[in-house]
Amino acid sequence: MALSLFNQLIQDEEVKTCIKKADEVMAVAGYTEHGLRHARLVGEIAQSVAERIGFSLEEQDLAACCGLLHDLGNVVGRRYHEVVSGLLAKDILEKYHLKKEEILEALTAIVNHEETTGHILSRLTAVLVLADKTDVHQSRVRNMDLSSFDLHDRVNYAVKKSFLKVEAQAKTITLELTIDVKISQPMEYFEIFLPRLLMCKKAAEYLGYKFSLKINQNQLL
Ligand SMILES: [Fe+2]
Ligand SMILES: [Fe+2]
Repeated sequence: MALSLFNQLIQDEEVKTCIKKADEVMAVAGYTEHGLRHARLVGEIAQSVAERIGFSLEEQDLAACCGLLHDLGNVVGRRYHEVVSGLLAKDILEKYHLKKEEILEALTAIVNHEETTGHILSRLTAVLVLADKTDVHQSRVRNMDLSSFDLHDRVNYAVKKSFLKVEAQAKTITLELTIDVKISQPMEYFEIFLPRLLMCKKAAEYLGYKFSLKINQNQLL
């Protein structure tokens, strides 16, 4: 399908600069990759989830754009990043003459995407949250020295594959992870990601779906 605005934004110099600067700040702060790879992937997953649960083409495009822009605010550091992302996204979406209603919907979703501060207040928020929290993957680890890995590095590095499966008929949304248990045990995943999983559960329920988690083919939730 054509994602017209998403494809324009991904080429936009202002967007590219914001994502690059935000990722540089995250690197200094010791966080995993939050650059173009994460932004683009979250946008693509958001579009895919939105399509499967029956959003219109315009709504799918807006979901993809929210994915692309949701972490721009990391440029101020992690604290309040979701609010700053919302403000930066608002400026960018206004430049493309989106309807006020669409800009406000994007703002609700982006400002609420963090598990520590956010609430599932709309279908678009639910889609963005599911897409963002799914991105756990070894390619996000910056530190290449395994001997100095912290818990976050180890859990991310252990994830070889992450896939969000939406089954519209069964009304289930399943996060399927393939983990190298020699690097990290599933328990460590729960240790750091339980709040994320609970937010995914709320997001899926808001959409009328049941959320489940499979690690190495074993159904854990
Ligand atoms: Fe974020
Ligand atoms: Fe994110």
